[in-house]
Amino acid sequence: MASNPLLPSQLLPLAISFISLLISSTAFKYDPARPYVVYMGSSSSEVRDNAEAAELSHLRMLNSLSSSRQGNQLKTSLIHHYYHTFRGFSTMLTQDEASLLSGHDNVVSVFPDPILHLHTTRSWDFLGMGFSDRTRSGYLLNPSNDVIIGIIDTGKSIQIITSHVILFSPAGRIWPESPSLSDEGVGEIPSRWKGICMEGPDFSKSVCNRKLIGARYYITEPTSNGNTTHSTRLGDSPRDSVGHGTHTASIAGGAPVANASYYGLARGTTRGGSPSTRISSYKACTEDGCSGAFHAEQMGVLVVCSGGNDGPDPYTIVNSAPWIFTVAASTIDREFRSTVILGNGREFEGSAISFSNLTSSETYPLVFGEKAAGNFTPAYEARNCYPGSLDTRKVSGKIVVCIDTDPTLSRRMKKFVVEDAEAKGIILIDENQKGIPFDSGVFPFAQADHVVGLEILKYMNSIKSPTATILPTSEISNFRPAPVVAYFSSRGPGGLTENILKPDVMAPGVAILAAVVPNTEPGNVPYGKKPSGYSIKSGTSMACPHVAGAAAILMSVHSGWTSSMVKSALMTTATLDNNMGNLLTNSSELFANPHEMGSGEISPYKALHPGLVFETGTEDYLNFLCYQGYSEKNIRSMSRMSFNCPKDPVDELISSINYPSISISKLDKNGPIKIVKRTVRNVGSRNSIYTASIQSPTGLGVKVNPDRIVFGWSTKRVSYTVYFYGKEAPSGYSFGYLTWSDGRHHVRTVFSVNVV
Ligand SMILES: *[C@@H]1O[C@H](CO)[C@@H](O)[C@H](O)[C@H]1NC(C)=O
Ligand SMILES: *[C@@H]1O[C@H](CO)[C@@H](O)[C@H](O)[C@H]1NC(C)=O
Ligand SMILES: *[C@@H]1O[C@H](CO)[C@@H](O)[C@H](O)[C@H]1NC(C)=O
Ligand SMILES: *[C@@H]1O[C@H](CO)[C@@H](O)[C@H](O)[C@H]1NC(C)=O
Repeated sequence: MASNPLLPSQLLPLAISFISLLISSTAFKYDPARPYVVYMGSSSSEVRDNAEAAELSHLRMLNSLSSSRQGNQLKTSLIHHYYHTFRGFSTMLTQDEASLLSGHDNVVSVFPDPILHLHTTRSWDFLGMGFSDRTRSGYLLNPSNDVIIGIIDTGKSIQIITSHVILFSPAGRIWPESPSLSDEGVGEIPSRWKGICMEGPDFSKSVCNRKLIGARYYITEPTSNGNTTHSTRLGDSPRDSVGHGTHTASIAGGAPVANASYYGLARGTTRGGSPSTRISSYKACTEDGCSGAFHAEQMGVLVVCSGGNDGPDPYTIVNSAPWIFTVAASTIDREFRSTVILGNGREFEGSAISFSNLTSSETYPLVFGEKAAGNFTPAYEARNCYPGSLDTRKVSGKIVVCIDTDPTLSRRMKKFVVEDAEAKGIILIDENQKGIPFDSGVFPFAQADHVVGLEILKYMNSIKSPTATILPTSEISNFRPAPVVAYFSSRGPGGLTENILKPDVMAPGVAILAAVVPNTEPGNVPYGKKPSGYSIKSGTSMACPHVAGAAAILMSVHSGWTSSMVKSALMTTATLDNNMGNLLTNSSELFANPHEMGSGEISPYKALHPGLVFETGTEDYLNFLCYQGYSEKNIRSMSRMSFNCPKDPVDELISSINYPSISISKLDKNGPIKIVKRTVRNVGSRNSIYTASIQSPTGLGVKVNPDRIVFGWSTKRVSYTVYFYGKEAPSGYSFGYLTWSDGRHHVRTVFSVNVV
């Protein structure tokens, strides 16, 4: 598997991912000292062996900054040195100081080390990787499974995968007592594992086992005055106190746990994609955010990241560098609903996860928020159930109807406002997030779409004393259509460049049941129940570990595959159909496009036999940096390779790096034809012949040459050229597919072309 994890070429993706932070982070306008990472390229054995000299040179570099800074002060403001995987340090700098340092000879780049915020089961069966299928479970229960999933908590919701899988997630801490982290049936720890199980005040070494093989945290943190703290307060431990890390870990590689549920909902066997995978957890954040820094002791090769939860607007995708596997979120074929029964006997289904103890035998007065406005409160605010907008006397003991015309006010906030006003429950009329059930705990809650909402408002206007009740949530299985692009999932195009199509793929990320730290807060635990070790969560952070887990399965079966081959296999075999046999849609019930779902919903079983794969190599990534405008000098220093940028690097050439999808940011109607090259490698049977077919929208001309490719005993790789012309194409983005088929495999490349 990972032959030598310290090969520079394998280091590179991780190194480059640091650069991606530079490119994607926002500029600061004022100039207080903030944490920065000064990145000085790959490390070497000399540097590692002489850490003291490296630290001294970092200090010297800081000293050169400003005569107004005292040496002493500098030393204390130095946050952390790096010399294991890459060389550099993180420290408090003003923006001016940062730009001064970036001009330094030995510095590749200086970028803010941002304070980041947390993005807030049936899914594996839904992906076609259920235990019930014997041939498939053969892959899943592979006893020689040697794949390690690492979870690094950066708050950037980044995840990294390699043959030891390292995932960066919003919270990589772990709750080791979770049954999902049991090592029953998991073999001995692979000998190449060099990680550690770090002790914390509430975390003993002995909790690590053959499943959870490592845990580590970083405790050095800057304080507001530029000092650092080496705090040992509770919470500075690999232990998960928010539940996010445990949830992510159990989706990706959790052990099978039978009869798991969230207070009876979503009952079934929870597990990761590849249950014999190991997990190692790294923490570099506290609940206040993530500063300080992180680095993985095991090197990542494939980087898998959530694309963000800022949809559905275009240009919201993050983590979009080509060496990152960027994941969008979808629903699965399960919904959670609460029934609303009106006083006139009519019933409606609302989306919810709520353990209401109301019954159908009694109804409660129903009141519209704006009719219960406090004195001097604008109707608009009361309708939206703003904090402080409701008059408790008009709300107490009733079910309140709120609408959502102000997206800045979260569902949690509205629930809190209504609950605080002593109401019995809330019906929220909100079209947008209707497919994403909100967990209201024990407070009766139901979310209605506009059609149902209108019916309820009509009823309320038709009668003097309207009443209703909200029943506890029940589960709907075999829900159709699914998957559907999640409303919140961030959309392309954009990110770093429009010449790479992002996101790459989509995976389940709505209402996913997985292990958590039991939530004991009042209001969360249904009356008479014990706090649950499982919970239902939504986010691209939940989609990501599905891709991580799928990649772990592929890596355990194809131990010789590189990460880009794994990524390619998952992209070219992704499905475009939902469980009704129709094309995938978004939450507006319109066809989903590749800026929403990338190549489609992952289909891990098909990905085991992709036929052909696109290998994206170090040279592609270095070329990408050239085309993005990085200097040769910086790229060399980062990669420690003698590398020359192609002549006349321009960003349009990015379209030609050997990526498993194609994106062209600008095709001029009256300009020249666009030409894109690709090379595929045969991983199927040796003598095979593939022919190309193209699906493209009317007006957009697409040709491939040759349109028939032949693999023999010695021919492993074949290149071809794709031509795009847009004379008759409509302006804006057009999407289509180029599929290579040998009759058994269908290798689909998605293309997106912006005609101007
Ligand atoms: C930094 O911390 C030390 C020790 O806690 C303290 O003596 C010093 O005053 C602090 N410096 C600043 C600038 O607050
Ligand atoms: C599953 O757990 C519930 C309690 O949470 C219990 O009532 C039920 O009998 C269990 N089912 C099985 C098959 O163990
Ligand atoms: C769904 O897709 C359509 C067409 O591509 C688009 O106009 C609409 O904004 C999308 N809706 C959402 C919620 O993303
Ligand atoms: C619901 O539970 C609360 C306490 O958790 C109790 O005060 C209330 O009476 C219950 N309502 C019904 C209808 O049982």
